[in-house]
Amino acid sequence: MTKHTGSSYEGKAEKYAKKVDRSPWNVHYERPAVLSLLPSLKGSKILDVGCGSGWYAEYLASCGAIVTGFDLSAEFVALTKSRVGPRATVLQANLAEPLDFAADGEFDVVVCPLVMHYLEDWKAAFCEFYRVLKPEGVLVFSTHHPFNDWKLFNKEDYFAIELLEDEWKDVGKVAFYRRPLTSMSKDLASTGFLVEQILEPQPTKDFQRVDPNGYDLVSKTPWFIVIRAVKGMCQPPLR
Ligand SMILES: C[S@@+](CC[C@H](N)C(=O)[O-])C[C@H]1O[C@@H](n2cnc3c(N)ncnc32)[C@H](O)[C@@H]1O
Repeated sequence: MTKHTGSSYEGKAEKYAKKVDRSPWNVHYERPAVLSLLPSLKGSKILDVGCGSGWYAEYLASCGAIVTGFDLSAEFVALTKSRVGPRATVLQANLAEPLDFAADGEFDVVVCPLVMHYLEDWKAAFCEFYRVLKPEGVLVFSTHHPFNDWKLFNKEDYFAIELLEDEWKDVGKVAFYRRPLTSMSKDLASTGFLVEQILEPQPTKDFQRVDPNGYDLVSKTPWFIVIRAVKGMCQPPLR
């Protein structure tokens, strides 16, 4: 099993859920950026990885997608289930292990917002995304921007993959991994994905209205990074 820090969220799901749908960092920054890279949703089979409290699952289903969401945490699974009811399938599963519930080539799209950085080594997860996507299926994921965590945590070696711990207001301590852009690109390529777009998002004007200081900060600092990659036709051997 891949090492991961998903247990950081134990006992914090309610607090995170209360915060995430109000936080301009999600609502007016990360979410619009992820949505801007998704292909057409109506009738698409979408895997929502690390569904958290279910905002993405609910939104995607409301656009006519056929959604399967999963999360490591039973608390988050329960929150998403109560939010989406029968409009999506919601499962408890661990991204650090094979996704046995999903068939080869089952999905048109894998969306994975703010989850990959909880894995120390994310190649096996990319392999699973590759397996469960149809040919030319699309992967869109967001994660912490590597330059920002390097700068924020004042780390010496940008090229290291290292464990960091942060204290989030109203949520508590959360641990995650930082890795350089090179390793993001190399790991995607080595699992057979072709990177189509790398987005360093800008906040929307609504962010400025609700949090002018935060807006100013993320207008000038790359906080998150969003990547759209497509399943190539032949999977190279893992390097
Ligand atoms: C920052 S939250 C993001 C939630 C949701 N994607 C969103 O954008 O609102 C990270 C989520 O990843 C989940 N997670 C962390 N490690 C995981 C793992 N190994 N397998 C599945 N889910 C995991 C957490 O339980 C949590 O719900």
